[in-house]
Amino acid sequence: MISNTMLKEITAQINAELYSAYLYLAMASWFENANWGGFAKWLSAQAKEEMGHALKFYKYLNDRGAHVTFDAIKAPQNEWKDPLDAFKAVAKHEAYITARILKLSALATKENDTASQIFLQWFVTEQIEEEKHADEIVRMLDLIKNSVHGLFMLNAQLGKREG
Ligand code: FEO
Repeated sequence: MISNTMLKEITAQINAELYSAYLYLAMASWFENANWGGFAKWLSAQAKEEMGHALKFYKYLNDRGAHVTFDAIKAPQNEWKDPLDAFKAVAKHEAYITARILKLSALATKENDTASQIFLQWFVTEQIEEEKHADEIVRMLDLIKNSVHGLFMLNAQLGKREG
């Protein structure tokens, strides 16, 4: 059995991952509506990935014999100033998720919960990628500024993402 403290914190992480999916889907919808299908595709693939993260935590708690219960997911922002504003929000959110994962990992160590420590390692590594990808897009958008040509090129590139 997993401790009540770990259960409570991992359950809160499931909520944070589901919120991530909700936020990225809201962004995908905003881009879709503005006819930037490539940005929308990237974000909707990202939303699916976040659902996958939530399910991974859910399965882990199930495997540890816990009864998972759910709280409300808060409403995401639905409008952004421009693509750079939106992707800055992605990067900021991923940094927040990383901080949460590291806190969970520190808690697992404090609780002498070796299984959770090992399980959380995957997420620690995953967050390096998540932050890297978001930061790369922010840097590209920063270079592009308001060049429509640049936005079209990046839109085409991000539209190649599978998922
Ligand atoms: Fe599930 Fe983007 O962190």
